[in-house]
Amino acid sequence: GGPIELDLAPIAEGQIVRIFWRGKPIFVRHRTPDEIAAAENVDVAALMDPQPDSARVKPGMAQWLVVYASCTHLGCIPLGHQGDWNGWFCPCHGSAYDTSGRVRKGPAPTNLPIPPYQFAGDTKLVVG
Ligand code: FES
Repeated sequence: GGPIELDLAPIAEGQIVRIFWRGKPIFVRHRTPDEIAAAENVDVAALMDPQPDSARVKPGMAQWLVVYASCTHLGCIPLGHQGDWNGWFCPCHGSAYDTSGRVRKGPAPTNLPIPPYQFAGDTKLVVG
């Protein structure tokens, strides 16, 4: 399929919504200020898959994190707001991700990937 649209207005701060694009699940997370700060205030060089939070969100839209909803180990769907970094926890083999979707504890080898997306105005997300 082509691009899909999501109305962001009903998604409360702190909430994670799951959508599907091309048959793949995607998380859209409306991050709180604390979650954004936690994602930004890290020693990037020490990460397993080093990437600054700023490379994972759109400029001026740091409250929105959009990532594929499948663990980079073997593809389970991680649970939001869980794990030691309060990002996601994978119940299959214990991988943990932070509030930027970056892997912080394996066996997952890499960060949750980011699908192609853009914003149309302040309240509409277009994925694809
Ligand atoms: Fe997530 Fe293995 S599939 S830790």
